[in-house]
Amino acid sequence: MRHVIVPEDLSAAEIEAIFAVSRDLQEKFAAGRRDALLPGRVLALVFEKPSLRTRVSFEAAMTHLGGSSLFLGEDSGFASSRESIADFGRVLGGYVDAIVCRSKSHDTIRRLAEVAGVPVINGLSDLAHPCQALADVYTLRQEIGRIQGLSLAFVGDGNNVARSLAVVCGLLGMRFVLAAPEGYQFDTGFRKHLAAILPDAEIEETTDAAAAVTGAAAVYTDVWASMGQERERAERQRAFAAYQVNEALMARCPDAVFMHCLPARRGEEVTDGVIDGPRSIVLAQAAARMHLQKGLLAWLLGHAE
Ligand code: CP
Ligand code: NVA
Repeated sequence: MRHVIVPEDLSAAEIEAIFAVSRDLQEKFAAGRRDALLPGRVLALVFEKPSLRTRVSFEAAMTHLGGSSLFLGEDSGFASSRESIADFGRVLGGYVDAIVCRSKSHDTIRRLAEVAGVPVINGLSDLAHPCQALADVYTLRQEIGRIQGLSLAFVGDGNNVARSLAVVCGLLGMRFVLAAPEGYQFDTGFRKHLAAILPDAEIEETTDAAAAVTGAAAVYTDVWASMGQERERAERQRAFAAYQVNEALMARCPDAVFMHCLPARRGEEVTDGVIDGPRSIVLAQAAARMHLQKGLLAWLLGHAE
């Protein structure tokens, strides 16, 4: 039984295998073909936080693959006083073939995976967003043609998306640089974890956004206050004021594409001119979520060729 709770649950070779299936399915989709690799299979989406991309891309993916999905929002009683996570997970795992869970707590997803008896995929937690990072590096490969040795500069909060990108970049031979103010970089525990699992990876941190983007193939940003951090918004706006990805910053790396996982707070972490500009690949990233997750589902459920 395999789960994808953090991207490092996958090896580099496994990610490449998933990318290959995703690419094949994406090409067929573009040609109007939909391979029913998962007929009759059911995917449950258990979400404690809002979502557009993750929810819809997984639901569409399952339909295209000949299976189906069901969305369980807050009224399912998940992770509440209604019943234990163990009872919820054991019951749900008896009905469905796989579960995507978006939770307020990373530990909740881990506990669900321990009991469900079916593969569990993290659809975003406070600590990780593996499907996003996998789809992002897949997108870069599609857009640029290669990724090995290229540099991705993440300008903003060292959050769930940044952590997962650091790992996927490290696994696949990309340099990752986080530019964030003191107090918003990776914590010591995660740094130690990165050093242990990816001792040879080029993963760096700086407070200097201009230095970080110099020579980058991609400049990435995300909201300064993630879901669940709304009360810190004003404080974070002050802390990140010098970390906006704007035309002046992008002028320092004329060959770089611009990336954002979306949703974006336009005028805060990114200007309209950058996110809507010719170097922005944010819509390709969003589209790739569905293709990447098809590959992931087919691989995880053992139906990839
Ligand atoms: N990028 C992303 O995960 O978007 P949603 O929160 O809309 O799913
Ligand atoms: N860091 C953001 C990502 C949203 C897709 C959040 O957790 O809200």
